[in-house]
Amino acid sequence: AFDVKLASSGQVFTIPPGRTVVEVLAEHGIDIPVSCEQGVCGTCLTRVTGGVPDHRDVYLTDEERAANDQFTPCCSRSKSAVLSLDL
Ligand code: FES
Repeated sequence: AFDVKLASSGQVFTIPPGRTVVEVLAEHGIDIPVSCEQGVCGTCLTRVTGGVPDHRDVYLTDEERAANDQFTPCCSRSKSAVLSLDL
């Protein structure tokens, strides 16, 4: 599990294994637009302001992945205990 922290409100949500960031945030009324939900389309792309994403998509380029400043919350996870998002 890892925590997601929202930059705007400071709210922290725990993302358990087997659930996605999109699913958990939607439960709390924070809706990220999605389409493929498989890491292909990039619709859900979200800016990362802290932490290190565990990229599980096939959308970002290697350079974009390495920059660690955006990720696809429909499928990607976090390598760090906390991932801060520009939401
Ligand atoms: Fe398509 Fe996330 S919804 S990459």
